[in-house]
Amino acid sequence: MQDPLSGLREDRARAREYGDANSELCWLATIDASGLPRVRALVLRDVEEGLALFINATSAKGADLTREPRCQIATWYPSLQRQWRLSVQTEPLSRTLLTSHWQRRPRSSQVMDHLYGDGFPQSTPLDDPARLRSAHDALDAALGSDPSPPADALALKLEILGAECLQIHPADRLHDRWEYVQDGSGWTRRALVP
Ligand SMILES: Cc1cc2nc3c(=O)[nH]c(=O)nc-3n(C[C@H](O)[C@H](O)[C@H](O)COP(=O)(O)O)c2cc1C
Repeated sequence: MQDPLSGLREDRARAREYGDANSELCWLATIDASGLPRVRALVLRDVEEGLALFINATSAKGADLTREPRCQIATWYPSLQRQWRLSVQTEPLSRTLLTSHWQRRPRSSQVMDHLYGDGFPQSTPLDDPARLRSAHDALDAALGSDPSPPADALALKLEILGAECLQIHPADRLHDRWEYVQDGSGWTRRALVP
């Protein structure tokens, strides 16, 4: 029985081949302090250790995941007409692994990661966008060509707790929906009413 991580990785590879704009993305849902859901798009990274998200600990989602590391991500690949939904537990990767992956992030994301911990916490009100722009440009010039990640940078490994896959078929055919459940001996898959 194929496990959901292998299935999702295969679908991402196929979506990438089709040039699917969603092949590198997911939508992350967390619960805020008042119990309300919050969802946003993130890049879903495939690293040696599994799937990972790169976020900043100062952000709203960082606070949500500190309170409750369990969350859900969803992906949708129009090229395959396929949706995945994963229940996951997030766990920070070691500083060594974070550093090696972080170094491949786009320059502007690296600069912003430093600014979040230096007077501009992510997801907080910004009185003057021009002040952020000039702080960004000044830091970009000062950081050097090979910066290290700041203390607030996080790479979160996703441990898959459960998964679902929905395959859309043309309107005249029933869709297929499978649930992946884990027990002591591995993953099993069962059909769900789509
Ligand atoms: C296509 C796309 C990719 C994104 N990738 C990331 C990402 O990898 N990490 C991240 O922190 N934010 C990413 N964002 C921004 C988030 O959607 C979000 O606006 C930001 O992280 C603040 O979220 P929060 O206030 O819920 O914490 C991305 C946005 C888009 C539209």
